[in-house]
Amino acid sequence: MNALKATGLAHAYGKGAARVDVLKNFDLELSPGAFEALMGPSGSGKSTFLHLAAGLITPAAGKIEIGGTDVTALSDGAAARFRRRHVGVVFQNFNLLDALTVAENIVLPVKLDHGRPDRARLADLVAKLGLEGKEARRPPELSGGERQRVAIARALFAQPDVILADEPTGNLDAAASRSFCALLKELNGQDARSPSENTHAEKSAILLVTHDPVVAATATKVHFLKEGRIAASCETEGDAEKVSAKYLEVYG
Ligand SMILES: Nc1ncnc2c1ncn2[C@@H]1O[C@H](COP(=O)(O)OP(=O)(O)OP(=O)(O)O)[C@@H](O)[C@H]1O
Ligand SMILES: [Mg+2]
Repeated sequence: MNALKATGLAHAYGKGAARVDVLKNFDLELSPGAFEALMGPSGSGKSTFLHLAAGLITPAAGKIEIGGTDVTALSDGAAARFRRRHVGVVFQNFNLLDALTVAENIVLPVKLDHGRPDRARLADLVAKLGLEGKEARRPPELSGGERQRVAIARALFAQPDVILADEPTGNLDAAASRSFCALLKELNGQDARSPSENTHAEKSAILLVTHDPVVAATATKVHFLKEGRIAASCETEGDAEKVSAKYLEVYG
């Protein structure tokens, strides 16, 4: 079974003359444990796809299955429950709650699901994302990069089956961006150096939206979105130059 499978997906915003067809005949499959990237120019529909996959909006046609569940057929309430348990989303605009502290934001999906947050896991993620000492602050008291790291911690906290991350390094400096990519690899089970910490790691399939070829090259494969569909895909071989060259070939 695929971790994620989008078939014949279509989505448009607006009606009549104002209608914009964003996705058309969009197909994408991620295997369990896959770590893949999605690239495309601004406005090509990357965030739209993530919102569809997270069950936040409903497609005009087609479907998206996550671990065999058709998320496009769920009611709003069922989609929210499914998302909290199985999908970690890092939104482009973070979607943090300003009234809650950093720690409360990170454990919110588990709390909403009536679960008991694992404090050791919280401490571990806070440390790995360089947020120590900031647990009691609220998002308006953080920098953009710190807010982004809180959003990342929240998406990773419940060890979801699928992680969808929308330009998660857009506000991070080069060092923070590198350590975030290393963390994703570790969660994805590719980091053989710390297998003991990684008992759940192989569970998370990751789709990373990014404009940065260096970040995309940390994934094994990259997909290029053009005119509403995946126009090309290639293995990255960890090579940012290869990703850049392919990008220019597809969009140049
Ligand atoms: N709620 C909306 N109503 C109408 N049009 C929208 C809406 N959201 C997005 N669009 C339009 O749909 C297209 C795709 O937007 P989307 O946010 O998916 O692009 P993107 O690839 O994520 O771009 P970026 O790299 O800038 O984040 C754009 O032309 C955008 O203006
Ligand atoms: Mg976007």
